[in-house]
Amino acid sequence: MNDVTQTVNLPFSGYHKPKERPVDDELSRVGPGTPCGEYLRRFWHPVMMSQRVADTPVALRILGEDLVLFRDLSGDVGLVHKHCSHRGMSLEFGIPAVHGIRCAYHGWCFGTSGQLLDTPGESASSVLKQRLFHGAYPVVDYKGLIFAYMGPPELKPAFPELDMMDLPGNEMLPWQIHSPCNWLQISENSMDPFHTPFLHTRVSGVQFEDAWGELPIVDYHEREYGFFYTNARRSGDNIWVRIHDHLLPNFSQNGALYERGETPRYFGRASLTRWIVPIDDTNSYVIAWRNLNQMDDPEGRSKRTEIGWGSVDFYGQSADRPAAQRQSNPGDWDAWVSQGPVNSHQRENLGGTDQGLRLLRNALRKGIRNLRQGTEPVRPQAQNGFVPTFAGDTILRIPRGAGDDRALILQTSRKIADAYIEFQGLPDGERRNAIARALAPLNQI
Ligand code: FES
Ligand SMILES: [Fe+2]
Repeated sequence: MNDVTQTVNLPFSGYHKPKERPVDDELSRVGPGTPCGEYLRRFWHPVMMSQRVADTPVALRILGEDLVLFRDLSGDVGLVHKHCSHRGMSLEFGIPAVHGIRCAYHGWCFGTSGQLLDTPGESASSVLKQRLFHGAYPVVDYKGLIFAYMGPPELKPAFPELDMMDLPGNEMLPWQIHSPCNWLQISENSMDPFHTPFLHTRVSGVQFEDAWGELPIVDYHEREYGFFYTNARRSGDNIWVRIHDHLLPNFSQNGALYERGETPRYFGRASLTRWIVPIDDTNSYVIAWRNLNQMDDPEGRSKRTEIGWGSVDFYGQSADRPAAQRQSNPGDWDAWVSQGPVNSHQRENLGGTDQGLRLLRNALRKGIRNLRQGTEPVRPQAQNGFVPTFAGDTILRIPRGAGDDRALILQTSRKIADAYIEFQGLPDGERRNAIARALAPLNQI
């Protein structure tokens, strides 16, 4: 019989290929007490669109924990463990009180901090209220998304005030979509700029713009708490540089959705501000804002009525399409869900275009291992009141020269990245002006 190691990569070697798909536990298990679960619990994450939390409490699962989200009659939002601390009835059947939520079974009432406020059936001498807190997590209700911090309360970081979260002239519409797969494969999609020319353009039809079909020239930049990368192409006489943010562990921002690189401009901003939030090991939410503004969508192609619960206004982000169309023209959702409930890294064969994945996985592994050694992760720090982000498009008129055009494109993308970095501490308008001044000498208009 042949040695399996010699025959596994020969033609018709299906029989010899390993069939099991071992899972990378370190990066994909998110429950309480798991290394990645502990790491993820050191950050604020959105958990639900605010509009879903009205009169009726909402049962949800986040990071493998069963929870209930409610809004009390004072308007405060609480995120508490699902099972009542008395005898375990689900608090999704609870009744919002003036302060807190009252369990339907025996009327115990818990405040948003978990404090036991009332035990109506107990005697006046009961000390339960003095000694019992139900499990609860701090939340922030911000521009249509409810964020939670599920880590140790004594280590709670500041709520991240990203610059995109308060930009003049920018409207932020919340959306949230479920995917039945591990969080990492969705998160990796945005550190994989080389899927765009194939999945979105060449292989399964043009889903965004023809111009995305050209293989980009990609340059990754590491930040203290994540990455950004430039994704550059030629578009006629223009060099079009698209910048993408990826902050650890699960945050990303894209450039404009409908950009074609035809009109020179400086420092466009992100069209998506997005977190991938694990529900458990094999289910995740994309929870995000679509950013609508005149500068990044001058033709008004965004479709605001399609942005919300289970839906967003761009191609292939959910299962909500006919099966035949999903097969002939699969989108992002089909790509990451079909990798399986948890993709097997051992069964992958990575190539040169997978550098983004390597960077992301290595950074996550480092953060997870450091935390296990007692070093807390670096969280985004505000400078002058906000955390600077980079995602968006800059397009400069730089016609092809006599030399190597790909080298010119890479060099240009580095100059653009340098300008973005140099002026990152300025507020948006001043930053745009400073970047424009710095890049104007390159722009042959
Ligand atoms: S189970 Fe909730 S009050 Fe008894
Ligand atoms: Fe994509």
